[in-house]
Amino acid sequence: MTTATELPASDPSSTSTLREDASRHPEEQAEPITMLNPDFPFSYDHYLAHPGGLGSVPDELLGTEVAVIGAGLSGLVTAYELMKLGLRPVVYEADQIGGRLRTAAFPAAPGVVADLGGMRFPVSGKAFYHYVDLLGLETQAFPNPLADATSSTVIELAGKKHYAEKPGDLPPFFREVADAWKAAVNDGAKFGEMQDAIRRRDAARIKELWNELLPLMDEQTFYGFIAASDSFKAAGFAHREAFGQVGFGTGGWDTDFPNSILEILRVVYTDADDQHRFIRGGAQRLPEALWQHAPSDLVHWPAGTSLASLHSGSPRGAVGKISRDPGGNLRVRERWGREASYPAVVTTCQSWLLSTRIHTEEALFPAELWTAIERSHYMQSSKTFVMVDRPFWKDIDPETGNEVLSMTLTDRLNRATYLLDNGPDQPAVILLSYTWNDDALKWLALDADERVELMLHSLEQIYPGVDIAGHIVGQPITVSWEADPNFMGAFKANLPGQYRYQQRLFTHFQQDSLPESQRGIFLAGDDVSFTAGWAEGAVTTGLNAVWGVINHLGGGSAEGNPGPGDLLDELGPISLD
Ligand code: ARG
Repeated sequence: MTTATELPASDPSSTSTLREDASRHPEEQAEPITMLNPDFPFSYDHYLAHPGGLGSVPDELLGTEVAVIGAGLSGLVTAYELMKLGLRPVVYEADQIGGRLRTAAFPAAPGVVADLGGMRFPVSGKAFYHYVDLLGLETQAFPNPLADATSSTVIELAGKKHYAEKPGDLPPFFREVADAWKAAVNDGAKFGEMQDAIRRRDAARIKELWNELLPLMDEQTFYGFIAASDSFKAAGFAHREAFGQVGFGTGGWDTDFPNSILEILRVVYTDADDQHRFIRGGAQRLPEALWQHAPSDLVHWPAGTSLASLHSGSPRGAVGKISRDPGGNLRVRERWGREASYPAVVTTCQSWLLSTRIHTEEALFPAELWTAIERSHYMQSSKTFVMVDRPFWKDIDPETGNEVLSMTLTDRLNRATYLLDNGPDQPAVILLSYTWNDDALKWLALDADERVELMLHSLEQIYPGVDIAGHIVGQPITVSWEADPNFMGAFKANLPGQYRYQQRLFTHFQQDSLPESQRGIFLAGDDVSFTAGWAEGAVTTGLNAVWGVINHLGGGSAEGNPGPGDLLDELGPISLD
């Protein structure tokens, strides 16, 4: 076993992230990196903050019902903003309010919670935090590997264990891996230049850089990009392998190796995998608060109106069918039969569900959009949590002077173990394993207890003599998003060559060139965004749909505050041939 004390002290900067790159340009540090997406560098945070609001609809349409399918973050942002404009959103939900911001409580101690979907939110996601702040939710730094909020991290690869309280405690090998990645993205994808342009919100420069890279990179996999880079070629296979295990930001990204490198570049350019915070009390508080909140700046509706009050407390049920009625409106049929017609519908569920769970009339979308919907690639993802009597991991092993258990990255089945503290002597939570794709599939067939047993077995190999099981109280909580019929996957990740599909999905809200028969139905949700798996994309595509609805109903953006659809031609994603 290798411990910190045996290792040479080295550069304290992070090994697993690109963070230190920014410090090479201290003068630019003043401007933060935001999730200004290179495909469409539209500043949604400024759009939201504008005193003129998001726009208006003709007076005679105030109170008009608009269907919003899905009460996750995207659906509720959409519904909340439509309500503020004086429309009447009708929210449909197949399961519970929250979508993939689902928080489960441990039955034995209901104040102790586990975030089953989104759990950590990068500070660069400014549109997301617009709502977090508006609703007064408290956040706290998430204990990611080697983050400031994490008292210790263990990286265990091929049976070798490295303990680190700060990144510099790790052997120089990890530093070399991080350097190889930095060199790869700088040489191959203009990382530094792109981040400079994002800091300055220089949309023209962002587009210039990205539009040149995009056709070259769309058909390259993440792994192919690494393997083709001079830096990783020179460093050798062990460095590529370790990079897959510890990666950048939050760690092991090797299950993304088959995905398009474009998917990864968007994440690293925008610091989406860095500086994460969690919502105290659970991520589900955000969609729940959107549902309950009565905005002060409402058009048409009396003060005190909220989504909850407009719905008399409960959303409508699961949707079974969407079609066009003879009068030209969109008809939504619930699973249990009730039907209603609307001039506009926003769907925010995983777009796959429009062909699998919801019978959506084929004529509502162009054939190429159907291709994009059906060909989408979703990642699997699984998490298993246990509650323990107290954060015993802070106990110090008298022999080594180290904490007895640390946030852990490993190449064993667990892949990543997170320690979630609720204060001294309070019941705490261990996220024993959080996995993606093949690693998530390995858990799929097993029940919660079988999962926990295997996970504890792995941890015993890494922490011999530490009795984790003896601290467990109550029942474990586990999730495999791919097994949930209302999701069928965790989050989308485009494969090589799928940029065209993504571009179709994203730009569909601008419907000027569509025939009348295909207008009025809008797609939103993180899988429609260019950063699937980040709540920011749920928010921003919801705002696109709001713009789409306003325009569809004959309204427009507020004076001086152009909306996403107004700027799509200028800033939007380019088409490839
Ligand atoms: N943002 C999510 C997290 O922090 C995961 C999304 C990962 N996306 C991916 N393509 N692997 O864990």
